Amino acid sequence: MSNKLLVKNAKQVVLICHNGEKFLTKDGMQKLCVIENSSLVIGSDGLIKDIGPASTIDFQYAGVSFDKVIDATGMCVIPGLVDAHTHPVWAGDRVHEFALKLAGATYMDVHRAGGGIHFTVEHTRAALASTLLASLIGRLGRMQRAGTTLVECKSGYGLELQTELKMLEVIETARRTLPINISSTYCGAHAVPKGKTVAEATTDILKVQLPRLSERMLAGALRVDNIDVFCEQGVFDLSSTRSILQAGLDMGLNINFHGDELHPMNSAQLGAELGALAISHLEEVTDEGIAAMATAKTAAILLPTTAYILRLPQPRARDMLEAGVIVALGSDFNPNAYCCSMPVVMHLACVNMRMSMPEALAAATINAAYALGRSHTHGSLEVNKHGDLLVLNAPRWEHLIYQLGGHQELIRYVVIRGNVV
Ligand code: NIG
Ligand code: FE
Repeated sequence: MSNKLLVKNAKQVVLICHNGEKFLTKDGMQKLCVIENSSLVIGSDGLIKDIGPASTIDFQYAGVSFDKVIDATGMCVIPGLVDAHTHPVWAGDRVHEFALKLAGATYMDVHRAGGGIHFTVEHTRAALASTLLASLIGRLGRMQRAGTTLVECKSGYGLELQTELKMLEVIETARRTLPINISSTYCGAHAVPKGKTVAEATTDILKVQLPRLSERMLAGALRVDNIDVFCEQGVFDLSSTRSILQAGLDMGLNINFHGDELHPMNSAQLGAELGALAISHLEEVTDEGIAAMATAKTAAILLPTTAYILRLPQPRARDMLEAGVIVALGSDFNPNAYCCSMPVVMHLACVNMRMSMPEALAAATINAAYALGRSHTHGSLEVNKHGDLLVLNAPRWEHLIYQLGGHQELIRYVVIRGNVV
């Protein structure tokens, strides 16, 4: 049987090695490792079969046939990017609110006035599944062209059973039909629906939404990977967050939630206690929260676009890295933060959050895969992992972060499971 893909003679191939430096994963500390003049083979199963010096691979595979050969002379190969936090299913943009926020309104001013998530909920409830699917496909296509090969996708603009299921079904259809890898998240606790109290909303999630979701999952109609709650003053408090996350955990979902964004809520401590795989945002996390996350190996998914757009304090990436927290990145694509590009996210993380370029790349690959429970199969170029990679038309991989925008020229090939997509 022929192999799927040979990427030959790349100037640099970026591996992420287990050798004791900065980047934590569940397997221990990790360090970027760049090998020069190398080739990479993906087998017919879509998994990486070999990586090594170009001359060795040439010799070993002389006479072997490949479905496709990419001559990467003068170019670089890096793992496909992983976007650990997105809200990509919705109808009704919020460009008008961007103007309000530029004029000084805060995120919560807009939310309390019935806009923000509530505006999107109204439009998403009214939208046909087919309309939502068409826009999702367009958005995932844009992400893929910007180098994302694994993306987390949340529901959360329904806030009631019917629309939450509609969103998850749309994500499921995308997962089954598109090449991009998807990790799907039930986020029914994204806001308290208009006219309901927190207690009523929590009861609806626990007694109506989660049991129905569980049935759909057991019937094989839906795959859902994670559970999310927006734990925030004026949204879900700590105790309702705890009961919803615990119920999700009991159903076999990974905990991955919004915490400590606008106010210190002790979300980090709660997540660590519950064994959360990841917590997102954390602009207002405390030192105690950071320490708890480091000990529990709960990843921090930092979202530089949100802090930038809402002019929030920057997430404390340096403090987290120094404390040994597993730091991941996400685009937070949503109607508030309209960004499909992980290279832009990495650029912002470096400039505004003072991450180094290797730290940002690890955060957008192996650590983001860890945050989604996929670091054993995704997020780095290693034999037997998925053949998901980018070929960059640049002499050094750092161009992906250094160049701000316009990445279509730079990202020459996006490869998912050995297929050029
Ligand atoms: O992660 N903070 C809550 N959720 C989203 C925003 C969703 C929205 O505004 O529609 C976030 O930034
Ligand atoms: Fe979010």
